[in-house]
Amino acid sequence: MKKTKASKIALQLSPKAIHFQKYYAEKKKIIDQQISKYSESLRKKASSSQAGYPPKIAQAMTYALTAGGKRLRPILTLMGYDALLHLPLHHLAARPRPQSDASVDQIKQVPAAAKSFRQQVVKIALALEMIHTYSLIHDDLPAMDNDALRRGKPTCHKVFGDAMAILAGDALLTEAFTVLAQCGGGQPATLATLLAETTRAAGIKGMLGGQVLDIQSQDISMLSQLQAMHHMKTGALIRFSLCAPFYHAQLHKTALCQALERYAIALGLLFQITDDILDYTETKENLGKPARSDLRNNKTTYLSFLSVAEAYGHAEKALQQAQASLKKISLNIEASAKTPRGVGIEIGRGSSLSQKTNTAKQHNLAADASVRKMNETLTMFSELAKFVYSRKK
Ligand code: IPE
Ligand code: IPE
Ligand code: MG
Ligand code: MG
Ligand code: MG
Repeated sequence: MKKTKASKIALQLSPKAIHFQKYYAEKKKIIDQQISKYSESLRKKASSSQAGYPPKIAQAMTYALTAGGKRLRPILTLMGYDALLHLPLHHLAARPRPQSDASVDQIKQVPAAAKSFRQQVVKIALALEMIHTYSLIHDDLPAMDNDALRRGKPTCHKVFGDAMAILAGDALLTEAFTVLAQCGGGQPATLATLLAETTRAAGIKGMLGGQVLDIQSQDISMLSQLQAMHHMKTGALIRFSLCAPFYHAQLHKTALCQALERYAIALGLLFQITDDILDYTETKENLGKPARSDLRNNKTTYLSFLSVAEAYGHAEKALQQAQASLKKISLNIEASAKTPRGVGIEIGRGSSLSQKTNTAKQHNLAADASVRKMNETLTMFSELAKFVYSRKK
């Protein structure tokens, strides 16, 4: 087979890409541990008479959850958390500070608040992977894509039967909300935002709505319609996964979060265009799911309109859009770091000039360190987009 641009990129790993692999693996470990812990407790409770639920449902849920997978969505949540954590405070200070900024100061500076916020973010990540896994169980059902393999294993309905697989999907979706309900940090407004935004991403205006369009995809006659479907069925959950920590901190209206949303929207499109391509070009052994499922199901995909090379061209455009959003963030953060600082820093009335100068210097040093950390995080986002472009499964 002719070598595609993507496979060439994969062969030449840059130091940044190697660093990214390590970064991704560390995040994946956190998610996999969280999933094992959750699954273990579900299974353990199932065997006790007080569990309140039938053991079978726990088996079917945990079968799908622990089968593997890239864990892209929950990893994005942890990456969103990194961006939030490294958000330079001087950058926030460059605009009128709403009340909610107080929570960022706490997350950054008060150890107990930081710990509890991080624990909640990891739980949100778990909930989002539960929702994603539910969508895969249902997507594979005979009434949908009728696929027999997922994450390298027989699909949930092949092992547990159609009825139990439908219920396992329903269970993962509803139980995800039980997990989310623990993530409000005692703030009703935060919890309400989290629940509403998760529903928006996963529901009829997001992933589920996109799946409806997918089922009717024979009606799609233009690439722009297909793109709109991809934004819904795949992009919506990816966008929210990344931005969830900002919603949690009530910082979703910041310019930074909005720019990250634009990155995530481009990433979601890139992800589904390449999924369409891989369905056609890769083997089932490599994919861990059946190859050419879309052809068999007569689905409208990017390859219904374009050749593989042309579809990669569209993927590359989405990749560039994602990179452009990151570049903007980086320029913005650096520009705000250059604005005169030391203004508005609280120094006691009696401070001498040298004390004032020292405090200003310390603030500037801290700001420079934040900018550096933020740029490192943005590099990981950039490497993630390249990984999505060149992945093989
Ligand atoms: C598959 O998602 C469904 C799509 C939206 C294309 P992933 O490719 O992320 O599946 P896993 O989680 O790695 O198995
Ligand atoms: C599914 O798209 C998107 C979901 C929301 C589950 P696909 O049907 O293309 O996903 P795969 O290829 O089966 O993973
Ligand atoms: Mg499908
Ligand atoms: Mg499918
Ligand atoms: Mg697919």
